Amino acid sequence: MNTSVAPHWRHAVVTGGAGFVGSHLCAALLDHGTDVTCVDDLSTGAQENIAPFLGSPGFTFQRASACQPLNVERPVDLVLHFASPASPADYLRLPLHTLETGSLGTRNALALARTHEARFILASTSEVYGDPQQHPQSEDYWGNVNPVGPRSVYDEAKRFGEALTTAEAGENGTDTGIVRLFNTYGPRMRGHDGRAVPTFVRQALAGEPLTVTGDGRQTRSLCYVDDTVRGILAAAASDLRGPVNLGNPVEITMLELAELVVELADSRSTVRFIERPTDDPAVRCPDITLARGKLQWEPGITAREGLGRTIGWFRRRLAA
Ligand SMILES: NC(=O)c1ccc[n+]([C@@H]2O[C@H](COP(=O)([O-])OP(=O)(O)OC[C@H]3O[C@@H](n4cnc5c(N)ncnc54)[C@H](O)[C@@H]3O)[C@@H](O)[C@H]2O)c1
Repeated sequence: MNTSVAPHWRHAVVTGGAGFVGSHLCAALLDHGTDVTCVDDLSTGAQENIAPFLGSPGFTFQRASACQPLNVERPVDLVLHFASPASPADYLRLPLHTLETGSLGTRNALALARTHEARFILASTSEVYGDPQQHPQSEDYWGNVNPVGPRSVYDEAKRFGEALTTAEAGENGTDTGIVRLFNTYGPRMRGHDGRAVPTFVRQALAGEPLTVTGDGRQTRSLCYVDDTVRGILAAAASDLRGPVNLGNPVEITMLELAELVVELADSRSTVRFIERPTDDPAVRCPDITLARGKLQWEPGITAREGLGRTIGWFRRRLAA
């Protein structure tokens, strides 16, 4: 981590810290010398993700739900609220839990920040833009979301979380920020979580066909997790209320992604086209002008490099 970014945090609380992004945040904060309390109910995360820090003196793990009031006695200067199922497979399996975590969980995490007069960051998502009619998406676009579609449990929970965070800052003066993460990938994703990168990597390494939905022309922008974490911590270190987009503005079609994974994994897998899920967005690409200007942030890791690292991690896990 850039040490000029976060000189002052002594103790941070990371909800969802045993998940994919959360565990990378815990690692970056610990590296920087910030003590971390990770609050996670392990509903979609894994203790394995935080195993490397469990013995560290600066790291505490509370197995608890953010839907219950959070109980942290030590002074806290930063609350990163990352608890929430994030992959479609998870939030479709856990619809009420997802809504409760986005609403009650966000309320409890905000209350913790208010009590400790800590900086608060909400992990929001590009899903607040739904199936966008503006491309690329800038923060002032309000989105095109189906409030009763299958994805609504996630999209609307995050939209509500943004509204709650904004109201908390306005009514109680809590120091809040909102980051809208676009697709992030990297080590510690689960091969079966349903997201494109881990699915393709798992299939390519197993020599199975890569299952591309629709005709594969729908686009995503993929940000390597180290870049995302750097952006989140830059937002936390700033006084920006946001929302601010954090994502890689380089767009790639799902078919191009599948072909790149096959090449980098040195695999003989072919591509198999399957049905596209309901309300799956056709395009997704962040406008990161705000993050560039206010946070001096932009991604630095190319898809080729990030996918190479991710494939290496999956390969080592399979060999272990
Ligand atoms: N990975 C991405 O591409 C992406 C994109 C946009 C937004 N986000 C946001 O980033 C955050 C982390 O996503 P991720 O990809 O790491 O997902 P993940 O599923 O790997 O991690 C989420 C973590 O939250 C925990 N959790 C869920 N509900 C909880 C609750 N009620 N109380 C305590 N812990 C709970 C889970 O056990 C898990 O460890 C989420 O808020 C997600 O919406 C991620």
